[in-house]
Amino acid sequence: MQRKLKMGTMIHGVGEKMSDWRHPEIPVDASVSLEFYIKQVQKSEEGKFDFVFIADALCINEHSNPHYLNRFEPLTILSALAAVTSHIGLVGTLSTTYSEPFSAARQFSSLDMLSGGRAGWNVVTSGLEKTALNFSRKVEEHPDHTTRYKKASEFIDVMQGLWNSWEENAFIRDKATGTFIDTEKMHELNHVGEFFSVKGPLNIARSRQGEPVIFQAGSSADGRELAAKKAETVFAIMTSIKKAQHYYRDLKQRVTMYGRNPESVHVMQGISPIICQTEEEAEAKYQEIAHLVRIDQALTFLSRLFEFHDFSKYPLDEQFPNVGDLGKNSYRSDTDRIKQEAKEEKLTLREVALREATPRPPFLGTPEKVADLIQKWFETRAADGFIIIANLPSCLAAFVDQVVPILQQRGLFRMTYEADTLRANLGLKVPGNRHAGELARISGRG
Ligand SMILES: Cc1cc2nc3c(=O)[nH]c(=O)nc-3n(C[C@H](O)[C@H](O)[C@H](O)COP(=O)(O)O)c2cc1C
Repeated sequence: MQRKLKMGTMIHGVGEKMSDWRHPEIPVDASVSLEFYIKQVQKSEEGKFDFVFIADALCINEHSNPHYLNRFEPLTILSALAAVTSHIGLVGTLSTTYSEPFSAARQFSSLDMLSGGRAGWNVVTSGLEKTALNFSRKVEEHPDHTTRYKKASEFIDVMQGLWNSWEENAFIRDKATGTFIDTEKMHELNHVGEFFSVKGPLNIARSRQGEPVIFQAGSSADGRELAAKKAETVFAIMTSIKKAQHYYRDLKQRVTMYGRNPESVHVMQGISPIICQTEEEAEAKYQEIAHLVRIDQALTFLSRLFEFHDFSKYPLDEQFPNVGDLGKNSYRSDTDRIKQEAKEEKLTLREVALREATPRPPFLGTPEKVADLIQKWFETRAADGFIIIANLPSCLAAFVDQVVPILQQRGLFRMTYEADTLRANLGLKVPGNRHAGELARISGRG
């Protein structure tokens, strides 16, 4: 079968960056506006995208991005979006460090049931140590990076085990005989591991797509290992085609090492395209967005990645300060990259902060140019697909109206949905009943 592009959108209300909300196009309440989310998801479905994606984190302070301060919980908003869409996948973020697998499995199964098999889970480990304070723990009890990923791996095992509590056709629902279930098809999990002990069964049936699809975005060595072992679609944001190709090769090799088919794990790059009829107009639109950010806000944006380190104490126009190991226990791959780029390119603190707060998107220009770039990244194995992280609603609309038709004409992207489940549209196999043979059978009990 011909390889086809995968496409997703990240919907993020008033914007991913500090100052996006000030743009005239963005409703100030976009992060908590059902109407705004419905418009974005329906535009994405019009573009035949595989999924929409809702990011999340569990800890804020007065310096957080405006979107983080007041936003919908992912599974709640996705449940509302399920009702106004029919084919597009619904991918929500949930932390494995600060959740319980039984509740999480139940929530994702419910979204999957509500949407007819369109749910996906973006597995995150929560990088911010102060998150601990919101979950009855001390800051020192925030697990280290390696432990977080170990716990994430076991968390996924438990989720997948619970999602297989019921075999297909377990619910007989025969009014005449009074038989509601076939107890032979109901399974306890009886998981006892390093972090979790969960009996099961889950109180909701197996999904039409087998199980919700596993998404993951860790880029550090630990993150890539987890992706290689467990993920079915992997997110990354790479600043050049070379880096993206390197990441792609590394990840697919790791997938192969785990005995998995590398074609069964999609690598998707996050991009923020700016599309206009001329190159000059696109540049002007980028400048308009970039100029909304103030330097103090850019410093604050940077500081979040480095455990809220106070960067305002350093001179702005001197070389990026040496912050030692700071950031290693939070968003490690981002902070490693920032330190490395600053050193290699001899960047000042001001340059680093502005670059991080409003990065200049490589996918900027006319629809043809953006389509050419996408084709190049796809065909040279820098990506299997893209997540559109649109700065503005008009950026998503321009992509759907002007770039998607070019990709379709070139045979790179679907004209219509192949199926109505997320897993089938992504070309992923329905997993068999994973634990059917292993799990203790329950008989005679309801
Ligand atoms: C496209 C994309 C989306 C992400 N979404 C989230 C998110 O919603 N919540 C979160 O805590 N981290 C999110 N991350 C961060 C990753 O989960 C991960 O922590 C980060 O890439 C650093 O990787 P590392 O922990 O392996 O160093 C995202 C990363 C990417 C590339």
